[in-house]
Amino acid sequence: MTIFSLIVSKPIFSKSFGLVSGFTLRYVSSGKKGLRAIQANLDRQRNSENNHHGLVQKRAFDYRSDLKNARRIVVKLGSAVITREDATGIALGRLASIVEQVSQFQNEGKEMLIVTSGAVAFGKQKLSKEMRMAMSMRETLSIKDNSIKPSMPMPEPRSAAAVGQSGLMAFYDVMFAQYGVNIAQVLVTKPDFYNPVSRVNLRSTVSELLALNIVPIVNTNDAVVSPSMPDTIEVCSDDSDNDDHIMIHDNDSLAAHLAVEVNADLLILMSDVDGVYNLPPGQEGARLISTYSPKFNGNLQYGQKSKVGSGGMESKVNSAVWALERGVSVVICNGTEELAINKIMQGKKIGTFFTDIKHQSTSVETYAANARRASRELQSLSAAERSDILIRLSELLQTRKESILKANNKDLSFAEMTGLSPPLMSRLKLTPEKLNSLSDGLQQIAEESKTILNRCLRHTEIANGMRLKQVTVPIGVVLVIFESRPDSLVQIAGLCIATGNGVLLKGGKEANHTNQHLLNLVQEALNKYNVANSVSLVSNREEISELLTLDKYIDLVIPRGSNELVKTIKEQSKSIPVLGHADGICHVYVDEEAEIEKAVKIVKDSKCDYPAACNAMETLLLHKSLVQSDCFTRICNMLKENGVKIYSGPNLSKMLTFGPPAAKSMRIEYGALECAIEVVDDIREAIEHINTYGSSHTDVIVTENETKADLFFRAIDSACVFHNCSTRFADGYRFGLGAEVGISTSRIHARGPVGLEGLLTTKWILIGNGNTVEDFNKGLMEYKHEPLPIA
Ligand SMILES: *[C@@H]1O[C@H](CO)[C@@H](O)[C@H](O)[C@H]1NC(C)=O
Ligand SMILES: *[C@@H]1O[C@H](CO)[C@@H](O)[C@H](O)[C@H]1NC(C)=O
Ligand SMILES: *[C@@H]1O[C@H](CO)[C@@H](O)[C@H](O)[C@H]1NC(C)=O
Ligand SMILES: *[C@@H]1O[C@H](CO)[C@@H](O)[C@H](O)[C@H]1NC(C)=O
Ligand SMILES: *[C@@H]1O[C@H](CO)[C@@H](O)[C@H](O)[C@H]1NC(C)=O
Ligand SMILES: *[C@@H]1O[C@H](CO)[C@@H](O)[C@H](O)[C@H]1NC(C)=O
Repeated sequence: MTIFSLIVSKPIFSKSFGLVSGFTLRYVSSGKKGLRAIQANLDRQRNSENNHHGLVQKRAFDYRSDLKNARRIVVKLGSAVITREDATGIALGRLASIVEQVSQFQNEGKEMLIVTSGAVAFGKQKLSKEMRMAMSMRETLSIKDNSIKPSMPMPEPRSAAAVGQSGLMAFYDVMFAQYGVNIAQVLVTKPDFYNPVSRVNLRSTVSELLALNIVPIVNTNDAVVSPSMPDTIEVCSDDSDNDDHIMIHDNDSLAAHLAVEVNADLLILMSDVDGVYNLPPGQEGARLISTYSPKFNGNLQYGQKSKVGSGGMESKVNSAVWALERGVSVVICNGTEELAINKIMQGKKIGTFFTDIKHQSTSVETYAANARRASRELQSLSAAERSDILIRLSELLQTRKESILKANNKDLSFAEMTGLSPPLMSRLKLTPEKLNSLSDGLQQIAEESKTILNRCLRHTEIANGMRLKQVTVPIGVVLVIFESRPDSLVQIAGLCIATGNGVLLKGGKEANHTNQHLLNLVQEALNKYNVANSVSLVSNREEISELLTLDKYIDLVIPRGSNELVKTIKEQSKSIPVLGHADGICHVYVDEEAEIEKAVKIVKDSKCDYPAACNAMETLLLHKSLVQSDCFTRICNMLKENGVKIYSGPNLSKMLTFGPPAAKSMRIEYGALECAIEVVDDIREAIEHINTYGSSHTDVIVTENETKADLFFRAIDSACVFHNCSTRFADGYRFGLGAEVGISTSRIHARGPVGLEGLLTTKWILIGNGNTVEDFNKGLMEYKHEPLPIA
């Protein structure tokens, strides 16, 4: 017997549309003896590659960040990716982008394989066009809106495939040639995978192609496949090693099979859905699962199949799980998303990543849900109990000093090895003194916490016997992201416990051990009242984007760190408000009526005291009358003496012939010993400038004229507006707020330096006596709305 196994067209090196030029057909004799020999050979080959039959099981990657190490990658393109949304043809732009990405990785030395669908869809279109043309003129004219009438003859899939195949390959060939990448078409049929002979052939052909730096493009040969062909074909009944097979129903399982067969590291299944959902997409509560572990996550429910292709989500998941069990990592993603392959290789969270290990990220939602529950319990504790928790924590910081410093040392020595910069090292380092002051701080917060919650802000008598109160309550659950300083963890946890908020903390990974140790202490303190879950630590950055979608559990995000961090979080957080400041472009305006002495002092402090702080001055605005005066010279000299680099704004540049270099923009946060100086006509122009280029953080006027100062206060739209003092006072400690949660330029409930109050909101409490609205409507009762003393 002879088995038709494989058609391999040699790569076509010309750029022409010349199609399958010269192909080799392999005929293999498959007597029973031959079969066994080949099977044995197959097993040997596998063993030598340490595949799943070998001693060492090949392992799929545990984390997305490892995917960049994948060497052999199978990319499967579903029909929906290849055809346009309106099904009128091939999505050329998208396909070109995919080809570009694949070529890029191939040229970087990876081994890329493509499994492509779409031949049928492509051919159908082509055929129906032909058929339509063949129809009589009258019939054609009666077709409205390009919609094909039901009576229209539809091409039969097999002939459509035969037509489509060549067109599709021609496209690939031309496009890959642009990047100097050669391709080869590998046509397979389902039985190829059930037949050991074909499998050996397939493996060796693909290996040869890859060794020749050729991208194999694998297609099913639908022109000869019978739809009624049984899915499992008993190949050698006397060989029980058949557990290796899943039934090949569609291209997804085919791609999975191929990936396993060629020992790929990664399989990317691209279709028209974003990935795997916990519920059918569109249903209430449906959420994309970004990391799925078949061993640890529960069952999935599936929605509908794609309109164009044949494989539904269930088959994709089954194929993915099957491949994963055999050591191939899998990502299912939306192939119409831009640069999907690049993003996957960079470890970005798109689609669903299949992994063997229990992922933290799978329980991120659980963390958040637990924090919500525990925060409600924390909130219902008495003030004395919350205060007790804080006192215990304060004591633990004293009694466990040694072990804390030991954990901190672990981080320090690791940081030293990785060459962390000295300023970051000093932020990372904990000392007995730092711990003392943290401990003292907690005592203070414990004291404040006794009165902060359930404080009455408003008390009204609604009517006889009806009283309304507005009282302070926690916001709920906050997510705080902070960078290297581990002391932040204790402070934030303290503030949140005091205000009855649950908190999810994400610290810098360089403080990993210290943070974990400190968290253990916090939870130990919380444990007395069974609310340990109200504070928890999330460990990696990947999880943040997932947390930012959980608006059900998280009420507020507070990023504390670099502008970059805050910006990213603001961009990512679509549904949860962010409290923070991205930019600190602070101004000092020196008016014509300013006292020079004071102006110089204020400018010096605002710029030079701590130039990296967000409340440092970045732009100095001068009234035009000052430019020719002593004031300008004195300020410039002072800045130069302090090593400040000066840039001039457009108007100042015009006035000076040999002035400082021009500022690139008036909207720059230098964050260093640098600043811009600009001249303005009057206070109106100064206000206009600040509201245009500022970041609504902190702005200062220096003047002796009260009227102007008043105008400045009213017109400047910033969180902090000061008169005759330094910008550097924009700080929770200097404001006397006690501990600082952060500085906010957001326009939600808290602006500027945010203390404990920023973690609070209010609720209404109404106490009645069987009252109904009807009583009022009928005039039996009357509204009083009289303020009562707040007690
Ligand atoms: C994908 O699978 C379907 C069903 O088996 C088939 O009709 C289609 O042509 C396949 N596409 C390719 C080219 O593999
Ligand atoms: C797939 O991605 C595209 C582009 O980002 C988007 O328009 C489309 O809605 C996505 N499809 C699904 C099913 O999410
Ligand atoms: C953090 O520390 C734990 C052990 O304490 C370790 O397993 C983990 O890999 C560390 N993570 C990072 C990002 O360093
Ligand atoms: C600064 O430039 C603007 C726009 O060119 C102009 O309206 C304004 O009068 C200038 N101010 C000074 C002080 O030159
Ligand atoms: C600054 O502002 C205050 C308050 O308006 C005013 O009393 C004082 O004279 C001003 N000048 C200086 C130099 O402090
Ligand atoms: C203060 O400024 C206002 C507005 O520019 C001006 O009308 C007023 O005369 C000034 N007051 C003094 C005391 O100079």
